[in-house]
Amino acid sequence: MTRPVDPPATAGFEPPPYPYDRLGVLTSRAAERFAADGGVVDCSIGTPCDPPPAPVVEAMATSGTERGYPTSQGSAAYRQAAAGWLERRFGVAVDPDTELAACVGTKEFVASTAQYLRLRTPDRDTVLYPAVSYPTYAMGALLGGCRPVPVPELPDGGPDLASIDPSDIDRALLIWANSPSNPSGALTDLGEVARWGRRHRIPVFSDECYAEFTWDGPPATVLSSGADGVVAVHSLSKRSNLAGVRAGFYAGDPDLVGFLLEIRKHAGLMVPGPVQAAGAAAFSDDSHVDAQRHRYQERLSFLAGVLAGAGVPAPLPAGGFYLWVPVPPVFSEGGTGGAWDLAEALVMEGGLLASPGEFYGPDGADHLRVAVVQPMDRLETVAHRLAGRILVPLPPR
Ligand SMILES: Cc1ncc(COP(=O)(O)O)c(C=O)c1O
Repeated sequence: MTRPVDPPATAGFEPPPYPYDRLGVLTSRAAERFAADGGVVDCSIGTPCDPPPAPVVEAMATSGTERGYPTSQGSAAYRQAAAGWLERRFGVAVDPDTELAACVGTKEFVASTAQYLRLRTPDRDTVLYPAVSYPTYAMGALLGGCRPVPVPELPDGGPDLASIDPSDIDRALLIWANSPSNPSGALTDLGEVARWGRRHRIPVFSDECYAEFTWDGPPATVLSSGADGVVAVHSLSKRSNLAGVRAGFYAGDPDLVGFLLEIRKHAGLMVPGPVQAAGAAAFSDDSHVDAQRHRYQERLSFLAGVLAGAGVPAPLPAGGFYLWVPVPPVFSEGGTGGAWDLAEALVMEGGLLASPGEFYGPDGADHLRVAVVQPMDRLETVAHRLAGRILVPLPPR
């Protein structure tokens, strides 16, 4: 008899469950419950539901760029359109040849940058990021063999830079900022983060993918404080409803942009040519973003009203398209379920699927995130289901 082969040792990194995969059981139960009654209204993931502009899709279909490899940096047309948009929207000038390059959507950039920077600065092993945030900042640190160190929030939701331990500052490879924040919508003073980074000689990476969905004030970029030591990261996924085709860019300090570009060329990271053609068209137009802003504002206030009526009030965010809902005390009393119990009650009673706040770090565990990425008629379906009800924890099954 042949001896069974021992499985490989697994003392190393084990990927944790992907946050949204953890909603699977709840989703199946609710899908069954609402199968004959309009189905589940999925507001758990921030994936756009609205169409991109027709000329943008047309540009993708007719670019004629399918045959050859695209460059990692991005075509001149793509980079010039992105730089033109930065100038129009934020009043900042960047050189599209030396200070800006394409990325394949921004998630891959967020997930890979620590790994690449550490190759250049191996004695720095710490990634600083907002304590309540998009999970990929911490995951990118782990994938790069670094320590993810969360920066606590101030009461206004911005990072408490003064609380960062000096030993973490000494080891910091980079710091992430995200304004408006996913999940809380809080706005950060990006100039202050840039000054902090320059003072400590720590590169600042500013994820600005929701910049045009800012409700309390104008859109902001870290680049307004100059390019020295900072990189702004932008995406077409949210502004132009192009999450399915994967396009973004990074722009700022030519040394950082240039280093990352050289590595990313070797790694084969390229935005497909037809997508770049669409991206150039998208960055050249702002009217579709204005229309999208109105959609999100309408949905945010409608859904906030529906939730308040169901005993779950949520403040309107300063930016972004998420309601960051504090878990009412009735869901935390005498139990540990908290946001998971609220998610269960909301989806089993209203058919509205949302994400428990712990997906965005332990400090978010007392909140639920609701993405307003469903059309009004779907949100109205939720309103009908919840009419006259006050949500309370469901009895144990
Ligand atoms: C804060 C933040 N950054 C980056 C991303 C990634 O976006 P994309 O990879 O589609 O550009 C997301 C997506 O939800 C996000 O919320």
